[in-house]
Order: sequence, then C-alpha cells, then structure tokens
Amino acid sequence: MKKFDIHFSVNFQEEEFFIRTYLNEYKNLMQLLREKVFLDGFGECQGTGKCGTCLIKTSGITGNSQIMDRNEPNTLIKMGINHPLIRLSCQILVSSDLHNASITIIDDDAI
Ligand code: FES
Repeated sequence: MKKFDIHFSVNFQEEEFFIRTYLNEYKNLMQLLREKVFLDGFGECQGTGKCGTCLIKTSGITGNSQIMDRNEPNTLIKMGINHPLIRLSCQILVSSDLHNASITIIDDDAI
C-alpha cells in the first residue's frame, strides 16, 4: 500500500483543504481535522462520541464508514440532528472509505 493513498477535500469557512493521508495515520477523522485544519474547540471529548463538537457533513463516504454506531446516533439525536450525512467525525476511522469524499466542517453557528 502506498503511503498517501487516501485523498479527500475538506471545506471550512469558505476555504477548501486537500487532504492526503493513509490508513490509520490518525486514530479517527476528528484528530486528522484538528491537526490539518487547525480547529479550536473541535473534538472536546477527545473522541468518545459524547460532546458533539466534531460535527461534519459528509459527501461520498463509502463502506462501513457510512454506518453510525456506538454513541454517535444517541449524541446526534440529543442535539436534534437527524440527517444521514451529518456525522461526528470522531466516529469515522481514517480509511479508504474516505477516498474522494468531500467533508464540510460544521460551525457551531450553523446548527
Ligand atoms: S469529539 Fe466529542 S463527539 Fe466527537
């Protein structure tokens, strides 16, 4: 497997970032976004799926990453969010399921 074989785009506040990564370079997508997009206050619970501060809107994610499990569905319901493309980035692993996807980081203001 090539070192950088997963490519996808990230949109945040009118800016687009082109991400190159590889399988399991980061523990999850939230940690990748924190480091590569330099987000303050993003992922406050460190990935337990309970704080809801790592919201993204996804487009083009494939495979098992489309499935919500663990704490994700309950946290989103508590936040009043019921949309299949709005996700907690901490619950998505860095895998080939992200290749060619488009991720939009959701601001607190946008909810
Ligand atoms: S980091 Fe807290 S829900 Fe994702």
